[in-house]
Amino acid sequence: MSAGVPGLTSRSSFEVRLAKLTDVEAIAAAHLDSIHTIGAVYYAPAIVSDWCARVKGDLYVSAMTRGEVFYIAVGEPSDKREVLGFSSHRIYEREHRTAVYVRGNAARLGIGSALFRSAEAAAISAGATSIHVDASLAAVEFYEANGFDEVGRGEHRLWSGRSMACVFMRKRLVRPATRSAAE
Ligand SMILES: CC(C)(COP(=O)(O)OP(=O)(O)OC[C@H]1O[C@@H](n2cnc3c(N)ncnc32)[C@H](O)[C@@H]1OP(=O)(O)O)[C@@H](O)C(=O)NCCC(=O)NCCS
Repeated sequence: MSAGVPGLTSRSSFEVRLAKLTDVEAIAAAHLDSIHTIGAVYYAPAIVSDWCARVKGDLYVSAMTRGEVFYIAVGEPSDKREVLGFSSHRIYEREHRTAVYVRGNAARLGIGSALFRSAEAAAISAGATSIHVDASLAAVEFYEANGFDEVGRGEHRLWSGRSMACVFMRKRLVRPATRSAAE
């Protein structure tokens, strides 16, 4: 999948592809950038610090090993081709779950939505009828724009035990209609 990125340079296009184990450090860099540039506007420094503390390549290696699937957007916002953001799909306690992060300098260009569509397609392929997210306060409107509804508000417990406010959201999924043999 690829798309133009209006507002960036003429080399600016991004592609979304499945992430590989060799991408984990680049995913971590994009994840940290996203939290520091966008997430930090919504949360206290101590929460941001704990949110970031375990964001390292190994985190995604472990997740991939457990079956979580990651998609990355790759493009050139400046003079360097880099990972602009990522999405994921995993099944946890029988729920299909996602998360999307985009670098601050690549926000509001449709990249998060393109990434989410890949995670959503993976969930549908895996038989999901709904997909869930504990949305950070920085992402509620984004998930709403992508078809999610709020199902509750509460707190997400970070590895440190510290809590961060979040909004529990769900999107009902519709399988693409399959064509009958008669068509
Ligand atoms: C949430 C996030 C992934 C959105 O990525 P993005 O690439 O900027 O999203 P898109 O450009 O696809 O936005 C699609 C629509 O979502 C809505 N939206 C996205 N960000 C928004 C914001 N900050 N405020 C209001 N609406 C927003 C808008 O309707 C937008 O369409 P528009 O730009 O035409 O108005 C990004 O802001 C981010 O990484 N946030 C920090 C990390 C985070 O909290 N991630 C979620 C973890 S659960």
